Amino acid sequence: QNARASELVASRVLDVPDFPKPGIVFKDLMPLFADGPVFRQVIDEIVAYHGPESFDVVAGVEARGFVVAAAIAYATGKGVVPVRKAGKLPRKTHSASYELEYGEATLEVHEDAFVAGQRVLVVDDVLATGGTAGAALELVERAGGTIAGFTVLMELGFLDGRQRLAPRTVHALLTV
Ligand code: PRP
Repeated sequence: QNARASELVASRVLDVPDFPKPGIVFKDLMPLFADGPVFRQVIDEIVAYHGPESFDVVAGVEARGFVVAAAIAYATGKGVVPVRKAGKLPRKTHSASYELEYGEATLEVHEDAFVAGQRVLVVDDVLATGGTAGAALELVERAGGTIAGFTVLMELGFLDGRQRLAPRTVHALLTV
């Protein structure tokens, strides 16, 4: 881990106990998004790790993944593809259901979201159990994309999401 990047993320995350359900400690990265210089540095760190030559397009997972994806895409001159919660995309979709730390959910991506073989950097804010990421990565591949990498700002190591996604690899700026 890059010490500077992990410290930046650690300095701008708030722990919210019992959200959205009792017993869950929610990792709120909105203070990081709201701090212009820190947000820029964090995005620059991700781009330094996943060089712009290594991917063609960025996929962001609803909702906080959109914020990260759009910034990386703009910084590198790439496009953004949204991976959305069920029922939000207007055209034909692939869908995948998964178990969340707190409930169940379905993600969708447009069937024509990618040109075959397009290299996709998939991003989200937090990796917890890995259910969300597993579904997102599966959907990108079903829609014809090739996974160029999966990156998050923060990983909750104790929930074993990384193990669940193996042999796919995860890049996290901060692991707690
Ligand atoms: C959070 C987070 C990740 C996911 C991680 O999103 O932004 O997408 O949970 O959890 P997992 O690794 O256990 O699947 P959430 O489902 O709260 O959706 P939101 O961003 O739309 O609020």
